[in-house]
Amino acid sequence: MTVDLLIHATQLLTVPGPGPQRGAAQREIGLLEDGAVAVAEGRIVAVGPTAELRQRCSARETIDATGKVVLPGFVDAHTHAVFAGQRAGEFEQRLAGTSYLQIMAAGGGIMATVRATRAASLEQLIAESRPRLDAMLAHGTTTAEIKTGYGLNTADELKMLAAIRRLDAEHPLALVPTFLGAHAIPSEYAGQADEYVAFVVEEMLPRAARYEERAMRYEGRGTEGASSLLPRTSSLIPHPSSLFCDVFCEDGAFTLAQSRRILEAAKRLGLGLKIHADEFTALGGAALAAELGATSADHLAATPEDDLRRLAAAGTVAVLLPGTTFGLGQTHYADARRMIELGVPVALGSDLNPGTCWCESMPFIIALACRYLRLTPAEAIVAATRNAAYATGVGERVGSLEVGKQADIIMLALPDYRHLAYRFGTNPVQTVIKAGRVVATNDV
Ligand code: NIG
Ligand code: FE
Repeated sequence: MTVDLLIHATQLLTVPGPGPQRGAAQREIGLLEDGAVAVAEGRIVAVGPTAELRQRCSARETIDATGKVVLPGFVDAHTHAVFAGQRAGEFEQRLAGTSYLQIMAAGGGIMATVRATRAASLEQLIAESRPRLDAMLAHGTTTAEIKTGYGLNTADELKMLAAIRRLDAEHPLALVPTFLGAHAIPSEYAGQADEYVAFVVEEMLPRAARYEERAMRYEGRGTEGASSLLPRTSSLIPHPSSLFCDVFCEDGAFTLAQSRRILEAAKRLGLGLKIHADEFTALGGAALAAELGATSADHLAATPEDDLRRLAAAGTVAVLLPGTTFGLGQTHYADARRMIELGVPVALGSDLNPGTCWCESMPFIIALACRYLRLTPAEAIVAATRNAAYATGVGERVGSLEVGKQADIIMLALPDYRHLAYRFGTNPVQTVIKAGRVVATNDV
């Protein structure tokens, strides 16, 4: 057969399935020594030993990654990459001993970024966020989830959704939006948390869902096989999912009862569910995620064992964010080993945000995950590709090198996949391919 592109690698990682991987299968990276992947019309059409693929395929273009590692592009399952401004002053305050929750209670933290984001126009918000997406792409991320949550009123939450849509359309990185209207209680509602929750449920959430529904119709997404009206560079296969809804369930943010109200309302609207659960305090957010059939429960640094068992039974993906614990200078990381033992599928995300973790690099998150979550390099790679894709609702489309999937492929200037976790602080990603096209190259 004639193909557009054939890539040969000394180590090809296919990251096979089915579904999100859990338990012992979380280590299955599908290592092919001297393996190749063939691409036609943006999709993977063959994977196997290079000698065999060279016989089967006549390629218009070949890439020789001898001495290198080739694997699926990273999926960053949890980010707050769209925001305005910065909070370096708070970082210094935290170094001097003030806690994240103390800064938040004093009106800083998330609310500081809310003020900056509200003040920014849509164009400014896009312009400030774009360089972060460029950095993510350069570090091998080809799909990312991005949350709203720095608007906290209808107009500014919709502005954030519009920014995510626009960036998704213009940037090679594919973006999956999540509505996080319940990220913090805005100052206008100080002391009236329940009133704010009612406003989220009755006003903002339905408006966000309608906005996304219209955007999907306009882009021809959500319907299998429909072609895009917008010049979508990032996605060949239509996104099957529309919008996720997330809640920050935490002391000082939203209680378990408030989180339940919001997520149940989102479920009634047909949205996928996510939750920031047990980042600092165990409030029962993980159990709620399991009960409601959430796609993912994120953070989980303080989750009790019983709730981990519930996640395993529900098949909810645990999205772990070691960059946040590191970024806060803390030492209490999520118990990933126990999660894997109990059969919870584990995924990774950067949590890129201006408060706790300004980090665009999934390779660095993998390096942290191996040291502090005690994942093996293979488990961390599965967590950052296949499992992260399932946590983001796009697991049937990307996250592995399997026939039929979109050709989102990265090439690392490393002799062995374990070096991805072993080395840190420099960018090992040499070439980034999105839907069969080279979209970034780095001189490494
Ligand atoms: O995931 N925990 C809540 N949200 C973010 C932090 C956002 C911010 O501080 O701006 C997180 O860590
Ligand atoms: Fe977060």
